[in-house]
Amino acid sequence: MADTPQKPSFHQKFFEKNSLILTLGVVVTISIGGIVEIAPLFYLNSTIEEVEGVRPYTPLELMGRQIYMREGCYNCHSQMIRPLRDEVERYGHYSLAAESMYDRPFQWGSKRTGPDLARVGGRYSDEWHRDHLIHPQSVVPESIMPPYAFLQDAVLDYSTITAHLRVNQFLGVPYSDEAVENAVADLEAQVDEFSSGYDDLIARYPGAQIRNFDGNAEVITEMDALIAYLQVLGTMVDFSTYSPDAEANQR
Ligand code: HEC
Repeated sequence: MADTPQKPSFHQKFFEKNSLILTLGVVVTISIGGIVEIAPLFYLNSTIEEVEGVRPYTPLELMGRQIYMREGCYNCHSQMIRPLRDEVERYGHYSLAAESMYDRPFQWGSKRTGPDLARVGGRYSDEWHRDHLIHPQSVVPESIMPPYAFLQDAVLDYSTITAHLRVNQFLGVPYSDEAVENAVADLEAQVDEFSSGYDDLIARYPGAQIRNFDGNAEVITEMDALIAYLQVLGTMVDFSTYSPDAEANQR
């Protein structure tokens, strides 16, 4: 039998001869797929499960994060460890959604010229970070990371920190009113182990690391803030006790 091509049906002709109708058909079809995938995320409780240990950033860490964004560190560094064996072996436990639930905006990134930083906290000493940021090749000779030496002399401008906390609070980050009111005091307390605000800071931000991060006690610098931020990354959840099943609520 000769190959007689099947005649296009009426519907086929209708769609294929009217580009506008075809476009509309495509849009409708794709949106159904999109809605099915996305809509449940808005009402399922388990979309972002709360995980013990995850807390909002301290005011100093938040300022450090601001500097991280200002300097465009995300252009070379991601902050999201994918659940793939090579990544987990290199960087540690894969990232949990809850670990970036208070990030406004998130810093997952899409480019890894340098390594992922999601779990860099606690991996190096403050001195290492300081040396590395001042002159990366002094600690990693083959590094192509640019230097950020000016951060050690740049006095941290934290005049906007109260407003930062308030905006985060407005967006749903659970900063208490008290935390917002004490933002400046908390920021200053974090670089001074002997500060009278030590206990209040720890009470508001359990597990916060309190010390002089840049080794210069005279003044709070952008280096202090950035190192405080780097040192908290990926350290809030205790993975020696974390179990995904125990945390999954109401599934
Ligand atoms: C042009 C790309 C580039 C930019 C921009 C950049 N980095 Fe890097 N970074 C690298 C590379 C490459 C490495 C790996 C070599 C090294 O350790 O220096 C690295 C390494 C690091 C490490 C060590 C990570 C590890 O696990 O060993 C840290 C921390 C870091 N960068 C922080 C930063 C911060 C903070 C900024 C912004 C102020 C920044 N980087 C900007 C490329 C970059």
